[in-house]
Amino acid sequence: VHQYTEETEQLAQTILNYVRERAQLDPVPLDGPKTEAELSAAVGQTITPGGLGARAMEIFRDELAPAIISVDHPRFLSFIPSAPTEAAALFELVVGGSCIYGGSWLEAAGAVYAENQALRWVADLAGMPEEAGGTFVQGGTLGTLAALVTARHTYLERHGRPDAGFRLAAGAQAHSSVTSMARVIDCDVLLVPTQTDRMTGDDLAKAFAQCGSDGVFAVVATAGTTNLGIVDDLNGIAEVCAEHGLWLHVDGAYGAAALAAPSSRDRFAGIERCDSFTVDPHKWLFAPFDCCALVYRKPELARAALGQRAGYLDPVETGDWNPSDYAVNLSRRARGLPFWFSLATHGTDAYTTAIEQTLTVARAAAAEVERRRYVELVCPPDLSVVAFRRIGWTVEQYAAWSDKLLRAGVAFVTPSSYRGDPIARFAIVNPRTSDSDITLILDTMA
Ligand SMILES: Cc1ncc(COP(=O)(O)O)c(C=O)c1O
Repeated sequence: VHQYTEETEQLAQTILNYVRERAQLDPVPLDGPKTEAELSAAVGQTITPGGLGARAMEIFRDELAPAIISVDHPRFLSFIPSAPTEAAALFELVVGGSCIYGGSWLEAAGAVYAENQALRWVADLAGMPEEAGGTFVQGGTLGTLAALVTARHTYLERHGRPDAGFRLAAGAQAHSSVTSMARVIDCDVLLVPTQTDRMTGDDLAKAFAQCGSDGVFAVVATAGTTNLGIVDDLNGIAEVCAEHGLWLHVDGAYGAAALAAPSSRDRFAGIERCDSFTVDPHKWLFAPFDCCALVYRKPELARAALGQRAGYLDPVETGDWNPSDYAVNLSRRARGLPFWFSLATHGTDAYTTAIEQTLTVARAAAAEVERRRYVELVCPPDLSVVAFRRIGWTVEQYAAWSDKLLRAGVAFVTPSSYRGDPIARFAIVNPRTSDSDITLILDTMA
């Protein structure tokens, strides 16, 4: 029974107040994990025949939320963090509250129109042609999956099934999702040995000379590796792909946001030659989880590979843009809308300014590491990941230091490894992260 009761109004107030108050916290508390036993003692069973009513929100606010690390804390520098604008985060409420089916133009023309404008901005940053297009998917992993399925389907249509099976080629530093998605589609991976941590066209050509290129249907280059933030030699790789007639997918899940930053744009030369690329607005484009922009040079190839057809779907075949056709999904949340809303509200210049700000802090952090005798850079940062060593520390010392920082609510900086040795890294995507946040953390390693 649809009834806007007094309880519903109360709930609306409580939830809006919660969101408003969280947005006002500066910074939000870092918070941290609790054990299952601790949560069980504090919260107990929440699914009951009668329902908890208003108590459910109290439990979330008082017990569950504090056991969730705030990814947008300015000293959350692990993995790749997220730092949504208030506009984007608040608009999630609108998307959630509007019951939007984002799969087809027929059902969500207004949403798809807006999402496509946001995609267009991203495609233009990469220098993609007018016909380019795609959709927003859950994350870089599933974006790469859709691109790979499209690449393989395109190969199959043109050349048939290769005798020795399908393979894809990727640099040794490619994200774990590439090999994982290769397993999903049951193809082998030709891991390209690289001279340095940046895969070059020469590396790729050498790998093909040594291992052949039979059955290779796609090359995945990385524009901003996760561990070190390095952008591959996209131009050189595009050249080799062109020689071999291969699909080039650029995984820019983290790094391609820096296309909007003039100080880093040169590093991406050649991205305009790719067949598909991904960039995650939930990483460095200030949108909430979960949001990956997936762009194809020729979207009709994705439609041929991924579009679902059935009698009951005929009504949505209006000739308009149906986002479901371009990824591994039918039903979809209009997850690009918070990103669109924030872009539309603030304008693209604000994005350039915010990304440049994080790059400036990353460069200053690298200089600060170089200034201190007890730490050293793994390499100068290409983008906004600063990887460094605490000289003399063991894996256990890194882990103990990291745990202590989190427990004290100071920072979340998980250790990583490089060529088998432990390292620390700062992944800086939050414009609120300041030089003093960095020095505060480095001081704790002295
Ligand atoms: C370079 C790169 N590619 C892909 C991914 C996977 O993205 P997601 O976690 O959104 O699936 C990541 C995540 O950090 C990444 O850094």
